[in-house]
Amino acid sequence: MRVEVLASESLGVRSMAVEVEVCGTRILIDPGAALGPKRYGLPPDEVELARLSELRALIRERLRLAGIVIITHYHFDHYTPDWAEDLRGKRVFLKDPARNINRNQARRAGEFLERLSRAGVRWEVAEGRRLRLSGGEIVISGPLWHGPEARFGCVVAVSVREGETTFLHSSDVSGPVREEALEFIFSQRPDILFLDGPSTYLGPRFGLEALEVARRNLLRLIGEISPESLILDHHLLRDLSWSRWAEPLLEAAEGRRVRILSGAEFSGKPLLLLEAERHLRRRAGI
Ligand SMILES: [Fe+2]
Repeated sequence: MRVEVLASESLGVRSMAVEVEVCGTRILIDPGAALGPKRYGLPPDEVELARLSELRALIRERLRLAGIVIITHYHFDHYTPDWAEDLRGKRVFLKDPARNINRNQARRAGEFLERLSRAGVRWEVAEGRRLRLSGGEIVISGPLWHGPEARFGCVVAVSVREGETTFLHSSDVSGPVREEALEFIFSQRPDILFLDGPSTYLGPRFGLEALEVARRNLLRLIGEISPESLILDHHLLRDLSWSRWAEPLLEAAEGRRVRILSGAEFSGKPLLLLEAERHLRRRAGI
């Protein structure tokens, strides 16, 4: 199995775009990338805009090569409405556009489905699907909450197995802070876990208690599953001091041969925390 993180916060944009290759089938999960509209009271700068177009080009190039595309929810850092035509001829799984969804995402999903139908793209509901591949299998979770609050609706997580190796893409489970997300991860026992860490950068706005729950859940995953690679990224990597928050996790991982790393490190690419460093570039006049 080949797993490549194409875009994420550790690579300079908001995204969880991943390419997984199993016996010659390329699977693209979440073909989208975006920038934080306001951080430290500042809009994205030129450095971030340039990186966004570079990574969007990379994701689109891989999208064209993919046989299977999975979109876990309708936030613009996870899908790109303008690329509807690129999905033609592929097996496309979409988070259920009608159920377990908030109003904003239901509207976006409706618009996206219109584009897909104009482009002649067929699609299937992702929730709960199990798909056999030659040499592997894809298992998609049921609806999982996007973080501690219900107002953001639900996402789906994706597990891909080839032989004895399992990769799991959590989508925006923010922690995982909720029990259902944790249960799905336990049921799959991934060797490589690409997890959306919680929004420590929001602090009390995320919920201090929820942050504690997320850390406890991560400790359980490290202790009980001990994945070979635990990739923490997305919301967590919007925080420059994420590793201070993750200290107990790093300690627990050490004794269990679990590598905790960002998407950039996992895929051997330079670490670029562009959103988290936006204020520093402004101060330095870059
Ligand atoms: Fe996201």
